[in-house]
Amino acid sequence: MSDISLQIDGKEVIAPEGVTILRAAERVGISIPTLCHHQKLEPYGGCRVCSVEVDSRGRTSVVAACLFPVEQDLVVRTRTKKLERIRKSLLEMMLAHAPDSEQLQALAVEYGADKDRFEKEASFCIHCGLCVRYCAEVKKKNALGFIDRGARKEICFIPEIASKECWECKECFPLCPTSALQAAFVLIKALSFPPEST
Ligand code: SF4
Ligand code: FES
Repeated sequence: MSDISLQIDGKEVIAPEGVTILRAAERVGISIPTLCHHQKLEPYGGCRVCSVEVDSRGRTSVVAACLFPVEQDLVVRTRTKKLERIRKSLLEMMLAHAPDSEQLQALAVEYGADKDRFEKEASFCIHCGLCVRYCAEVKKKNALGFIDRGARKEICFIPEIASKECWECKECFPLCPTSALQAAFVLIKALSFPPEST
């Protein structure tokens, strides 16, 4: 893979062709916020908190840094008024679902997001998919999945798999930016684990 050069926040950056903007920025110490990204997992592009502005082939657009591959002479801005507005709105929507999330609260402070802007719908899950994808891609167990769609979408442990695999594992727990995963696990534990394991 050959190296290419691009510009991120005014800094000249050399990066291997094909890596994401997020990875290229990390290499030079430029931090871009993320919520659904994990280095062991395939790029997902779910939360859009990593949105950045790019100038490419005469056009300016907003793209997800965790998905968009670098290209020669790409110009990237990670902090603009427009991006701050996007991140603020996204965080406000997520905080309506998970107002107690410490990770969201920290980002809310950074981007001036008002956790009370939207009416609370405490589903707790922000649909980042980290738990589902980690279990599928890293553990190869598929003990978790999403059920329903849209606003009703929520994660669910598959009882037949979870009762065999999850008790000794729980590696997905620290990945969850909210308390949704732990809450779902408490529920499935009560429903499907034998009393001596609880
Ligand atoms: S339960 Fe947590 S880790 Fe899983 S999708 Fe929801 S917010 Fe993400
Ligand atoms: S971290 Fe890029 S979309 Fe979530």
